[in-house]
Amino acid sequence: MDEILRHLHSIQTTAEQELLSASTQEQLAGLRVKYLGKKSDLSQAMKLLSGLSSDQRPLAGKLINETKTLLQDAYDRKERELSEQETQRKLARERVDVTLPGRRLPSGTKHPLTQVMEEIQQIFSGLGFSIADGPEVELDYYNFEALNFPKDHPSRDMQDTFFIRDDVVLRTHTSPMQARVMEKMTPPVRFICPGKVYRHDADITHSPMFHQIEGFCVDTHITMADLKGVLYLFVSEMFGKGTKLRFRPSFFPFTEPSAEVDISCVMCKGKGCRVCKMTGWLEVLGSGMIDPNVFGFVKYDPEKYTGYAFGMGIERIAMLKYGIDDIRLFFENDIRFLEQF
Ligand code: PHE
Repeated sequence: MDEILRHLHSIQTTAEQELLSASTQEQLAGLRVKYLGKKSDLSQAMKLLSGLSSDQRPLAGKLINETKTLLQDAYDRKERELSEQETQRKLARERVDVTLPGRRLPSGTKHPLTQVMEEIQQIFSGLGFSIADGPEVELDYYNFEALNFPKDHPSRDMQDTFFIRDDVVLRTHTSPMQARVMEKMTPPVRFICPGKVYRHDADITHSPMFHQIEGFCVDTHITMADLKGVLYLFVSEMFGKGTKLRFRPSFFPFTEPSAEVDISCVMCKGKGCRVCKMTGWLEVLGSGMIDPNVFGFVKYDPEKYTGYAFGMGIERIAMLKYGIDDIRLFFENDIRFLEQF
């Protein structure tokens, strides 16, 4: 009996010491096997019970169990301590400083042509115009025929046309939208039609693909004064109050009378500079009163209705607004150019 007591005592002291000094969870797991496992000295001690008398046996058994509980408690305490330490280490490792400023995602901006296009659309929407778009691959009929360009008439040479087939072209202007919209709607109609157009032409102010916006309005009693009024509002919104307008007689097959419209130079305010070639004026669009022959193609009564139309190049407007001197910059997609807008 004494022997067992001494044995248990020595197991308990060494085990408690080792458990206390364990510093990792792996060490602790090893100690668990060593002192609490099936092959541990404590389990082996059970076998010694058979050598004891029946009155000593319950007492010895009780002592073994108490030792076991003590060691289990010591183990549990250490286990909690180590796992708490591990949690603290993990928290320290993964600490997030919520006061640090975030990383900014690089974000692009709208292309300057898109910005100008949207600004123009906004101005005209405010004046009650609706927006429509149509095909870039266009029938000769809408691009020329219905706009009063007779077949084989030299006026078709005004446009350097890309032909797809004899009767199909890449539209050379947005004016075909006049015919397309009018044949579907009855007056009053008031539309703007933005989009891409194509002409066989390339230099620092011409690109084979560029953008136009067409505007037109048809109703009873529409006069050239309405055209002027709308364009005045447009240029003062777009280029600033005080921008002057000048109408010069011109010719388009689908308008009569026709006028090219100039604005006072946005750079020198009309004094004369390199941009306006010392004239003080900049040409910005073509316009006119819709030719009665065009009404014939869309079945509008020319005795009842009158209307005006205008068409402008977006690149040109953007170049003037931002002082850009080479149209190719719009299409090179050089980020150093684009990020300035
Ligand atoms: N379509 C003409 C062009 O491209 C511009 C224009 C539009 C002229 C509407 C008059 C009326 O040059």
